[in-house]
Amino acid sequence: MFEELEPIRLECATCQKCVLGRTRTKSVFSDGAAQGKIMLIGEAPGENEDLQGKPFVGRAGQLLDKILASVGLTRAEHIYICNTIKCRPPDNRVPTWEEKQACRPYLDAQIDILKPRIILLCGKTAVDSFMTTDGGISKIRGQWFDGPHGAKMMPIFHPSYLLRNQSHAPGSPKWLMWQDIREIRRAYDSL
Ligand code: URA
Repeated sequence: MFEELEPIRLECATCQKCVLGRTRTKSVFSDGAAQGKIMLIGEAPGENEDLQGKPFVGRAGQLLDKILASVGLTRAEHIYICNTIKCRPPDNRVPTWEEKQACRPYLDAQIDILKPRIILLCGKTAVDSFMTTDGGISKIRGQWFDGPHGAKMMPIFHPSYLLRNQSHAPGSPKWLMWQDIREIRRAYDSL
């Protein structure tokens, strides 16, 4: 069933539906376990991702893998990772509305075909693509919302934000992420 995604991945590899098709090295479709029940959606590929064609492989990705591993979750077994848009914006700028619109069918296909039971919206760009909020992610992170196909959907901090906020003190972003990832593990265990 998941092989339905293959033609879509191939289409994405040569996509020219927005201006980012002209400047990317590789489009970045996904990494991880298609059957894994958890989908993590980030913002957009950065420099390392653009070169390797894989999401979250730079410093933020290494931190993400550490956070997941702290509760025994891995790309190999549990998590499918993708981004709101599949090509790197020059200088890692925030994706435009047009770019997000052009790329949305790829993300929707990933969700509709895989039907993850848990969706993690990693950072503001991903959150804004699924819900309307009146502020930053701090107010809603760690809470469960209703997602597509009956998924449980949770906004979480982006690891790049955590890299800029090194404190582990109670109430700090890193400490909150630690609470959130344990709640995610609990939800996964009760599926
Ligand atoms: N940041 C993202 O949001 N996605 C990536 O793939 C890498 C960094």
